[in-house]
Amino acid sequence: MEKDNVLEQLGKTGIVPVVVLEDCEQALPLAEALMKGGLPCAEITFRTDAAEESIRRITKAFPDMRVGAGTVLTTEQADRAIDAGAKFIVAPALNPKVVRHVLSKNIPMCPGTCTPSDIEGALELGLNHVKFFPAEPSGGLKMIKAIASAYVNVRFMPTGGINADNVKDYLAYNKVFACGGSWMVKGDLIKAGRFDEIERLVKEAVSIVKEIRG
Ligand code: 3PG
Repeated sequence: MEKDNVLEQLGKTGIVPVVVLEDCEQALPLAEALMKGGLPCAEITFRTDAAEESIRRITKAFPDMRVGAGTVLTTEQADRAIDAGAKFIVAPALNPKVVRHVLSKNIPMCPGTCTPSDIEGALELGLNHVKFFPAEPSGGLKMIKAIASAYVNVRFMPTGGINADNVKDYLAYNKVFACGGSWMVKGDLIKAGRFDEIERLVKEAVSIVKEIRG
């Protein structure tokens, strides 16, 4: 279960900020705001050209931060993310080729799932930590609980449509190891350089985790 360790550690903070960075100059101020706010982790999505360099800068400046790459759709993107220092890889779906490739590099992989078939695909690949995506449109906590009743050892990271209100219910369920979301790191806040506001929203998110999980 070595490969799951980083994913299990994400459970310590309970929330994983899902970040889209358009400019790698924003990477370090963003990472500082996350650290100061109490969330030393992030999923930097490979949806922009700035993702790879942002991961490189953050992992160099903050080696203890649990920084992963998200929206990794190809083995080539996975290689670039891992080379930049990504400590875990997240994807919106379960692509066995990408999962096998990432695991072969001894890096944890958290693929997207939203059906029992997806879960069986993940189990077949030796995974028991999965993203549940897109969480709210796919049935939210009700759907996760229904799936989890059949696959008792699977742990979920719901992502998509989660916010400061509904995150409480997800965190209260013991099969949810962490929740992913962008609500505290919205693109407009990053673009406007409003890192104080990001830090405030991160602190608010951390206090919600404490309230629910103690
Ligand atoms: C995404 O697709 O960007 C992530 O799942 C985050 O979703 P959110 O913006 O609804 O939090």
